[in-house]
Amino acid sequence: MTIVSTGEIIQDAFSRRYGVAAFNVVNDLTLEAVIAAASELQAPLIVQTSVKTVKQIGAGTFAAMFRAYADRAPVPVALHLDHCPDRAVLSTCLENGWNSVLFDGSHLPSVAENQRQTIEVVAEAKKYGAQVEGEIEGITGVEDGIGSDDVADIFSLETAVDFVRSTGIDIFAPAIGNAHGVYTAAPVIDAQRVSDIVAQVPVPICLHGGTGLSKETFDDLIARGCAKVNISTALKIAYMDGHREFFAANTKTQDPPKLLAFVRGKVKDMATDHIRMFHGEGKAA
Ligand code: 13P
Repeated sequence: MTIVSTGEIIQDAFSRRYGVAAFNVVNDLTLEAVIAAASELQAPLIVQTSVKTVKQIGAGTFAAMFRAYADRAPVPVALHLDHCPDRAVLSTCLENGWNSVLFDGSHLPSVAENQRQTIEVVAEAKKYGAQVEGEIEGITGVEDGIGSDDVADIFSLETAVDFVRSTGIDIFAPAIGNAHGVYTAAPVIDAQRVSDIVAQVPVPICLHGGTGLSKETFDDLIARGCAKVNISTALKIAYMDGHREFFAANTKTQDPPKLLAFVRGKVKDMATDHIRMFHGEGKAA
């Protein structure tokens, strides 16, 4: 099945109303672990990278690594660039084979300027057969150095729908009370906003800030049209806590493969739990 376009993966999920897990991976170990989880569950998958990860590993190196694992996966896998306000990084990723990008123009002075630049990004992506996710409101919380803890203004339904229609984006990421990172208080989710947008323009919605939302919230939002569900913090926790747990139990060991196998297991279990929760299991069968 191997690497397929993000559009193909997301359109299937949107029409059959299940969620595709989109995990922010940080290196080869986490990349391999989430692909292994999806492969075992026969689930489509989106692998995504933050700008920080792209800069740390290098676009060419990461793309080669992604192809090495995804090419032999028995399920559809796509590579997506998460929140990217930097047009140069975005172009580099498209040139290196990313299947889709989130142009994050939410920091721009006006929706009109965001709209103008998003239209340019959609045209650029089209040349590579890639898709574009767009957003007009900053999702609360800082994700790998991008974003803010301030709660952004929410634009009207008309503004959101006009942005989707006029830009031709493939996926829309509205702010609905969701936030990146660990929720410090129970989030108040405006699920109706998802239904209202989808009723006016049938665009797959991306749910950001997936870590920590309840199964009931996922079920409700996925049924309303959230076809892409982003998970980053849960992967970071599994990865970091996996190391801590290993070292607490193995204070003297000098056996890196044993450590790596342990951490891989933690990341894979985390991915398995989320893919199942989003009803992705068996959807690639
Ligand atoms: P979490 O870090 O809350 O899982 O959010 C991930 C995300 O939305 C990435 O854009």
